Amino acid sequence: MARLLVTTRTGEFREIEGASGMSVMEILRGAGFDELLALCGGCCSCATCHVQAEHVDESGLGAMSSDEDDLLDSSDHRTIRSRLSCQIMFGDHLDGLRVTIAPED
Ligand code: FES
Repeated sequence: MARLLVTTRTGEFREIEGASGMSVMEILRGAGFDELLALCGGCCSCATCHVQAEHVDESGLGAMSSDEDDLLDSSDHRTIRSRLSCQIMFGDHLDGLRVTIAPED
C-alpha cells in the first residue's frame, strides 16, 4: 500500500496508507477524517472534499475535469494546488502524496 500524508484544518499531521483503486476522498473518510464532509459521495457535485494536493509527479493526480474546475471556482480557498479529493484515484504511483484539507467554505 502507498502512503498518504495528511494535514488537517487544525494542522494535525498523520501518515496513513491507502489502497489502490480508491479515491483519496474514500481513503480519508475511511481513516476517520470526518472534517472532510464529501456530501455528494464522490459525484463531483458538492466541493466539500476540497484539498490542497502536492506530489513530486503532478501528472499522477490525473487531469482536472471542467466540472471539478467549476466547483473549485466556487471556493474562497482555491489555490494552484486545489483538487477535489474524490476525483483523485489513489495508487502506488502517488506514494507520498501530501494533502491538506482545505478550510470550509
Ligand atoms: S465528494 Fe462531492 S465533490 Fe467530491
